[in-house]
Amino acid sequence: MNVLTFPSNEELNEAAAGLLTATLHQKANAVLGLATGSTPIGVYEKLVEFYKKGRVSFQSATTFNLDEYVGLPRDHAESYYTFMNTRLFQHIDLPEANAHIPDGHADDPQQECERYDRMIGQAGGIDVQILGIGHNGHIGFNEPGDTLQSATHLIELHEETRKANARFFASIDEVPTKAITVGLGTIMKSKSILLLARGSDKAEIMRRALRGPIDPQCPASFLQLHPQLIVMTDSEAGRLL
Ligand code: GLP
Repeated sequence: MNVLTFPSNEELNEAAAGLLTATLHQKANAVLGLATGSTPIGVYEKLVEFYKKGRVSFQSATTFNLDEYVGLPRDHAESYYTFMNTRLFQHIDLPEANAHIPDGHADDPQQECERYDRMIGQAGGIDVQILGIGHNGHIGFNEPGDTLQSATHLIELHEETRKANARFFASIDEVPTKAITVGLGTIMKSKSILLLARGSDKAEIMRRALRGPIDPQCPASFLQLHPQLIVMTDSEAGRLL
């Protein structure tokens, strides 16, 4: 694992966007695994800036998002579909057909999970997977538990996760109770993984995830087993590493 700690958010954003840009320079048709949450927003802003300056093109790229809430209309302000469109997709030249997000409104969520995993496989797997981390160690929406699921699956969100995400909704009652998430096995099959964390509230979970035992109660701890894990944090989130 390669841990890089940056003194400012700006430098972290530059480095993460630079890594993705370098990937696309080496392989124009790279498959990128994308994450939502507040952590990657600055990286997406940088990518948009790089695109506008002509430094990168997404014309031949394919993207797969990690997760989506179940039950929110696609155009809901807090759906991950809306998040990705407003933060990234509508500002760059990624063809719409190449951008994939699990369908949280599928009639048969189980079938949707299988379809999503199949599509990732058919695209040749993920080249670079971006990840944030939840305070309880979740990645995507792979919540802590006695066992973890490998493939894309439907998950019941933990109360802690719903509370953390309630800040984006009018009240906690509006936060969905379920989500579709790419599973840990699919994440671990990515050729490389870029784990991002910011802020002092992430310091302890980053320590547990990267320096603690590998434990399904902290799904991010499995990332220690990945041969190409790059960790980028600000000085606060990386304080205990
Ligand atoms: C969300 C997402 C995760 C994200 C995490 C942390 O619930 N499903 O992909 O990494 O929580 O979010 P944030 O970056 O806002 O702290």
